[in-house]
Amino acid sequence: MKHFLSLYFIVFIFGCDTTPAPDPDPDPDERTTDETLYDFAKSTTGYVWYKKSDLLLPKSSGSGHTAPLMRTRFNATASAKLDAAGKVQPNATFPDGSVVVKELVTSGGDLSLYAILYKKSGHPDADAKGWVWGYINPDGSVRISASQKGAACISCHTQSGNIDYVLMNKFFP
Ligand code: HEC
Repeated sequence: MKHFLSLYFIVFIFGCDTTPAPDPDPDPDERTTDETLYDFAKSTTGYVWYKKSDLLLPKSSGSGHTAPLMRTRFNATASAKLDAAGKVQPNATFPDGSVVVKELVTSGGDLSLYAILYKKSGHPDADAKGWVWGYINPDGSVRISASQKGAACISCHTQSGNIDYVLMNKFFP
């Protein structure tokens, strides 16, 4: 009986310990949208390059992006909409969770900017088509915040030949 009581006592003590366990990961909900986009852009795991090539391409004549060189990759979810050659399927609509990252690169080969498209319908920073637009420097500082909802981007990215905003097929057929 004495044993049983002390066991009960121990369970009681520990059962009442309400100190929360330390959170191993920061809550993703506490990241700003720009920080989330930056995390996406930095990771290359699971991404597929446009036309399956990581070669740097000269930016197209239609590009509103300043850097002379660039290359574009699609995360695993977005890559479901690439064809066997690594081009975007005609008339594709990218599913939620898609991330498209364009790396803008200087003539010297240094990364100068990430341009990011993230499909997340209903996200507070998503536009009418469910895309969140990011423009983030390699050090994580924000060039154009996602809270702008692509105001500086959409008119150019809705030009004829876009596929769910994506322009690579048009300019790099
Ligand atoms: C004046 C036109 C223009 C504007 C403005 C523009 N873009 Fe682009 N963007 C392009 C073109 C053209 C491409 C195809 C690759 C290239 O030539 O650079 C492209 C490619 C991209 C890509 C790779 C996927 C794709 O569409 O092929 C992303 C991501 C992107 N842009 C994001 C942005 C963001 C974010 C903004 C606004 C901050 C923006 N763009 C503003 C023309 C524009």
